Amino acid sequence: MAILNGKRALVIGAGSGIGQATARLFHNEGARVACADLNRAAAQATAAELGAAPCFQLDIADHQQVHRTVDSAAKALGGLDLMVSTPFGPVSFVIENLPPEQWQREFNVLASGTLYAFQAAIPWLRKAGGGVLLSATASLFGDYGAHTHPAIFPAYSAAKAAQEMIIKATAMLHSREGIRSCGVQPGFTRTEGAVRTLEENGIQVDQFEARIGEGMPMGMAMPEAVAEGFLFLASDYASYITGYTLLVDGGSYAGRFGRMLY
Ligand SMILES: NC(=O)c1ccc[n+]([C@@H]2O[C@H](COP(=O)([O-])OP(=O)(O)OC[C@H]3O[C@@H](n4cnc5c(N)ncnc54)[C@H](O)[C@@H]3O)[C@@H](O)[C@H]2O)c1
Repeated sequence: MAILNGKRALVIGAGSGIGQATARLFHNEGARVACADLNRAAAQATAAELGAAPCFQLDIADHQQVHRTVDSAAKALGGLDLMVSTPFGPVSFVIENLPPEQWQREFNVLASGTLYAFQAAIPWLRKAGGGVLLSATASLFGDYGAHTHPAIFPAYSAAKAAQEMIIKATAMLHSREGIRSCGVQPGFTRTEGAVRTLEENGIQVDQFEARIGEGMPMGMAMPEAVAEGFLFLASDYASYITGYTLLVDGGSYAGRFGRMLY
């Protein structure tokens, strides 16, 4: 039997990468999925692939838009049991010359956006008698702010650390209502966002993978592997797991890449 049979899920960031793979996997595992993304055409393409799924253009950094979209998605699906949030925007690499508007944008997309999405979904999950809130967090950047060049993303790291705390606080406040809150910490994953970020630093993704070598024992992840982490946490097989972030990194944390970065 499909693992998410009868579940209703909203995936924010469904237009690309990890969010898109998660939307596909949840759909294949029996969930009714609504897709949201800043990129309307990308969200529409994923939604069309899932059989005309409800689809929304959304800037997760906009509090009112998030509340409107979550409400519309839940109404379109007949309620809400699961919400996954995986936005990834441009990242900056400096402290000294970081313009306030860039800092605020990065922080709002990743951290404030997670909070807004959780806030908006909680009443619907409560109505459903419980559910799961999930967010993609980045362990290396959320746990450690500065690594070897080019992996020094101050605003991104700060936002990812905040995401972790939003996940934990939500678990503490809402577990008694049957609402679980978890994250997935992906290792380096071959997505449009990751490839673009490397290329902006003059690094080709294959070169990067070769350079890290045995530090990533299983190589770079494909987004489908990260989506499997979300599937597990969304499922009833994770019924006693909350306030927790699952590392899906193919052994990078344990290997040389991990030692280099941590
Ligand atoms: N790819 C990796 O190596 C990696 C590693 C660790 C963590 N992550 C995290 O995983 C998540 C997904 O990353 P990805 O690699 O799949 O990225 P991606 O760029 O391939 O996909 C991200 C999607 O989010 C959408 N998006 C961007 N800004 C948005 C906004 N303001 N509102 C709504 N949607 C928005 C984009 O349009 C895109 O469709 C991110 O949170 C990222 O930080 C990725």
